[in-house]
Amino acid sequence: MHITILTLFPEMVVPFFTSSIMKRAVEKGIITYDVIDFRDFAEGVHRKADDIPYGGGAGMVIMPEPLSRALDSVGAQGKRVVFPTPSGRLLTERYAEELAREEELVFICGHYEGIDQRVIDRYVTDEISIGDYVLSSGETASIVVIDALYRLIEGVISSESLDEESFTSPLLEYPQYTRPERYCNKSVPEVLLSGHHRHIAQWRLDRRLEKTMHSRPDLLSDASLSIDERKRLLFILDKEDRRWTLSEL
Ligand code: ADE
Repeated sequence: MHITILTLFPEMVVPFFTSSIMKRAVEKGIITYDVIDFRDFAEGVHRKADDIPYGGGAGMVIMPEPLSRALDSVGAQGKRVVFPTPSGRLLTERYAEELAREEELVFICGHYEGIDQRVIDRYVTDEISIGDYVLSSGETASIVVIDALYRLIEGVISSESLDEESFTSPLLEYPQYTRPERYCNKSVPEVLLSGHHRHIAQWRLDRRLEKTMHSRPDLLSDASLSIDERKRLLFILDKEDRRWTLSEL
């Protein structure tokens, strides 16, 4: 996949591509990328890329011309162009899977109060929100979207890791432990040292059910749980003296 990021702050974006798992994906040739400073497409000595909003109001708005010249330079029309914004469609694992199937993505990082609507209308195919809160920069939001999608591309991480984690299933993840066996007077749960695969699987399922029930009960309401998972959940609810019934889940 080729990822192009248009930004006024390349120094916020580049480290993501030169570190950790993304660095390896780039080295393997799974991901190629360009980080483009669209101020380079602005005119005048000051290379101005933003201006005050028509109609008044606080802050600055990114001007259409420098940004559209940068978009034209990468042939953005006809490509999938993502603009992260709190007023976009909410990013979910399903949405990330859909984006991960593209061969090329272009990201526009907004800053200040936003970008001129005419650029959105002309180029943007996907306005994406990463959650119901407001960030000060589109760069961090773009990185979140890219992180969620690129790891789903074959060869980036092991398919085993993908299979086990939250949101590919409706249940959240079980807790993990590693050496040492004792840390600050706390031991690793016995069952994990037992080598008994069925007991370990059962213990992990129980922890996932508990975690989901406490942190995200909303996920259980539409979770497609198996009969065994439902039985375990009822058992856990019973233990916690919660008088829920299956029909309420
Ligand atoms: N830019 C600022 N806040 C954002 C959010 N919540 N989602 C996507 N882009 C943003």
